[in-house]
Amino acid sequence: MPSMSQPPIKGIILAGGLGSRLHPLTKITNKHLLPVFDQPMIHYPIKTLVNAGIKDILIVTGGNHAGDFLRLLGNGNEFGLKHINYTYQEGEGGIADALRLAEHFCDGDPMCVVLGDNIIQNNIRAAAEAYRQKGSGARILLSRVPDPERFGVARFAADDGPPGALRKIVELIEKPENPPSDCAVIGVYFFDSWVFDIIRTLKPSKRNELEITEVNNAYLRAGLLEHSMLDGWWTDAGTFDSLLRASNLVKSDGANNL
Ligand code: G1P
Repeated sequence: MPSMSQPPIKGIILAGGLGSRLHPLTKITNKHLLPVFDQPMIHYPIKTLVNAGIKDILIVTGGNHAGDFLRLLGNGNEFGLKHINYTYQEGEGGIADALRLAEHFCDGDPMCVVLGDNIIQNNIRAAAEAYRQKGSGARILLSRVPDPERFGVARFAADDGPPGALRKIVELIEKPENPPSDCAVIGVYFFDSWVFDIIRTLKPSKRNELEITEVNNAYLRAGLLEHSMLDGWWTDAGTFDSLLRASNLVKSDGANNL
């Protein structure tokens, strides 16, 4: 349990966007409502937060099918929640742009942001506990992957040791052509409320998005970024290949295991 002096971590699930990499599936629904094995995709990030003891949750959605989230999830009773908060993203400006909508909800408290298409085999309890102890700055989670060029990737000070929480990150690079490591930054981020000031300084990237990687680099430059290695597998589910892979992994191993 957090002590009285530490504010609780709020949970934010980013579930907007047009899901254009999954057309035509996403012409008639939101990507995060598509099935991943036997559950709608959005169930997994909710469990990721709830399993880490984060129960004050905001879902940021958008597009033409936003009302379906309410019909599917209601007040979140199925997950042991009493209430879920929702907000609506106009247009599509990337992860950091969507996160701006959470400023009012966070009200100065620290947060855990989860991308709605990120699915994990196990849980983020150790990282959440480490962040609770600290209570400020940022903490990211890394996972070793065979295809780092698809993600945000960590460059370490010296690539001579095994990837781990003790290695020093010197830069995070979004979708590098020549990845400097195989450590992808997964879509689970712990931030304090400074994140909203950082987002206000961002400029759109080449893909016309406000990049979460630039947010993390701002924390890194300020000496306020820590990281954990994720235990177990992690996958996104935003392309045909990764959506199929996610279903197969969940079928064989389950997800959100404690
Ligand atoms: C986004 C982030 C990337 C991160 C990935 C995790 O990529 O930009 O840094 O590694 O999520 O799923 P996108 O899904 O926008 O391509």
